[in-house]
Amino acid sequence: MSENLHQLRCFGCGARISGAEARPDFRCADCGDLFEVEYPGWGERKGPDRPNPGALKWLWRERRCSAEGLDHSGVWRFRELLPILESFGNAVTLSEGNTPLYHLPRAAKRLGIDQLFAKHQGMNPTGSFKDTGMTAAMSVAKERGFEWVACASTGNTSAAMAAYAARAGLKSLVLIPDGKIAWGKLSQAMDYGAVTCQLKADFDGCLTLLTQIVNEAPIYLLNSVNPYRLEGQKTPAFEIAEAFDWNVPDHLIVPGGNLGNSSALGKGFREMHELGLTARMPMISVIQAVGANPLVRSLAENGGTSLEPVEAHTRATAIRIGNPASWRKAARAIQETGGWCLDVTEAEIAIAKAEIGAEGLGCEPASAVTLAGVKKLRAEGRIASSETVVLVLTGHTLKDADYTIDFHRGTLLSADESAGREAEIASLQRNAQVVEATPAAVLAALKGRAE
Ligand code: F0G
Repeated sequence: MSENLHQLRCFGCGARISGAEARPDFRCADCGDLFEVEYPGWGERKGPDRPNPGALKWLWRERRCSAEGLDHSGVWRFRELLPILESFGNAVTLSEGNTPLYHLPRAAKRLGIDQLFAKHQGMNPTGSFKDTGMTAAMSVAKERGFEWVACASTGNTSAAMAAYAARAGLKSLVLIPDGKIAWGKLSQAMDYGAVTCQLKADFDGCLTLLTQIVNEAPIYLLNSVNPYRLEGQKTPAFEIAEAFDWNVPDHLIVPGGNLGNSSALGKGFREMHELGLTARMPMISVIQAVGANPLVRSLAENGGTSLEPVEAHTRATAIRIGNPASWRKAARAIQETGGWCLDVTEAEIAIAKAEIGAEGLGCEPASAVTLAGVKKLRAEGRIASSETVVLVLTGHTLKDADYTIDFHRGTLLSADESAGREAEIASLQRNAQVVEATPAAVLAALKGRAE
């Protein structure tokens, strides 16, 4: 029996097609908008395909002790809510997901929020949240018989794609902006065996070019315009709800780049609510960098009815995106949950990243916009002290070690960028010191260290 229960619905005009009918660029033939996966059987209250919340909660918990490979995946453990494959036996998995949810005691204390947590998606096999989406979409690519897969990337998607392609025995093509991605990520694509092309273009240019390529050659597109990516990326929402015993937190804070992740998490929380697994949705807020803030502008200027692309600039290279593909979906997630969309400066990002580092966690710069965003929301009175807040940390700190080292050496930010915050920045800097090889010199180095 087929395990596939899905169809695709156009986000713009509502047209419905089967998965096999999707065009290579995943755009609607009628209106050009993106598709979303839907499961028609879930709508019938007493239908045979509608998941049973009580049974699922029990089953998903049981699977954590299961010996079966698929159950070790924090994505496929929830496979009843992503029936996108003919057979789950075709799933390509690296045991992704099941990432930790950490309390952030120091930041919580400073902010006066008791319940401040970080869902660390950087603790995935290739070090970012992209793995949860890639396992889903790569499985579809394999099941449909593709030989080649491809993505445009600011680095993490390419690392994840290359790894999962290698596991699936497929060949992969990566298009990345020349010089504007972190070395750690580029090294992963190489190591996992992708054909990696550095283009004299930004991320948006890479994606436009790749769209032309997949329309000409039988190459499967694995950017988040591919709706199956978002099916995998919705599963951290299930993990978060499960961790809170199915009482969802009040507020989820997500970085915004191409805006697939915020869309996916919104879908996950919406579906849980619609199926009766949870009683409500959390507020979902999206944070962008000031220099790459097209959604912030769109929502402020026209309520999210249109989006004007910007030329993107930020050292948080993962979110250096000016023309985000999934902006309509992300706008819906923010608007339907009553969340916010705001932007944070380069200094705010750097400070927040160091503070997350000082919690013993660390993350990459793009992830740190979440803490920077919470600080702003709290200062503006938009988050109450009683709220439970979860930051989605999207990437591992080792992804962009250069950024971290530059921060601690004091070479990251310009004088203009750090103006007025010099003391705060200095209090967080922990540059390595050159010290004589004597006990006295090393012990002397301990003196003067704050805290
Ligand atoms: N955080 C990190 C670490 C990312 O790598 C990305 C996106 C985002 C946040 C933003 O997520 O695009 O779903 O809004 N990185 C992509 C890439 C674009 O190519 O790796 P989004």
